[in-house]
Amino acid sequence: MNLDRLLKRFPKDYLEKRLSLQVDHSAYRLGSKKFLSIYIENIEWIFVVLKWLLKLSGLYSLGQRNTIHYRITQNHLKFDNLPKSFEGYRILHLSDIHIDGILDKGKNLYSILDDLEYDLCVITGDYRYHTHGEYDLVIEGMKELRSHLNKDTFCILGNHDFIEFVEPFEEFGFKCLINERIKINKNNDSIYFLGSDDMHFYESQNFSKLFEGLESNDFKVMLLHSPEGYKQAESDNVSLYLCGHTHGGQICLPGELPIISNSSAPKKFNKSAWTYGKMQGYTSNGVGSSGLDVRFFCPPEIIIHHLHGNFY
Ligand SMILES: [Fe+2]
Repeated sequence: MNLDRLLKRFPKDYLEKRLSLQVDHSAYRLGSKKFLSIYIENIEWIFVVLKWLLKLSGLYSLGQRNTIHYRITQNHLKFDNLPKSFEGYRILHLSDIHIDGILDKGKNLYSILDDLEYDLCVITGDYRYHTHGEYDLVIEGMKELRSHLNKDTFCILGNHDFIEFVEPFEEFGFKCLINERIKINKNNDSIYFLGSDDMHFYESQNFSKLFEGLESNDFKVMLLHSPEGYKQAESDNVSLYLCGHTHGGQICLPGELPIISNSSAPKKFNKSAWTYGKMQGYTSNGVGSSGLDVRFFCPPEIIIHHLHGNFY
């Protein structure tokens, strides 16, 4: 990691906060430091017990196979403020790839991505299987993933990710948005993509920086790893909020009913399409899995959001 380059791009206080939490979190996982906050993804014994229960019941390998049977969701959305040139614009939405934990090393995923048609791709965080530790396989996997995406791709960081991912990802051609935004122009129209840093664990979002200078009627797509920023985003006139983090429950009851959401947002924001005030949102089931490499009644999801205006 080149600290000088990071300091040129990110505010010092932001970097200090994120890096010290990354170090504290890693120290906690290595057993050398107490960490007071409780997050289910960090309580390892739960997953060990669950894994053995699934193995004893003979369901473990079925759950593993379920992690690579992808659902492709076509999500059609209508907006009052979509600029006309963006009518029919398609956003491929991937989330929670946890790329170093994919059962078949991405074979099924890549064959699907190779055949998809879209205008832009966004990835809403969580590239690593674990929340700490080595990430060589993440970097290797993301290089391979980039070769299967044929359009501009914006990435944000989740609670499994380190700021160190930014440089290699951008070398591969991803554009990372870490409390940064980008304007996309088409003809004489524009829309904005606002990429927030993780709000769930790192609490390193910076909404005032993201929205500075934007008009209330500008068409804004918020990318934030978890749905937990829904209230603030709506009050800042976000049109579309894209996120993941919850994995849709990952291990669900029949009917895709989540048992655990791992999110402080109310239930309706933790899965699939939702609205809040004038804002529309989508919480992806995620592409990968974490904690335990199984899925039940909750397929991994690849989404294409189709943007439409109320023009007629
Ligand atoms: Fe995740």
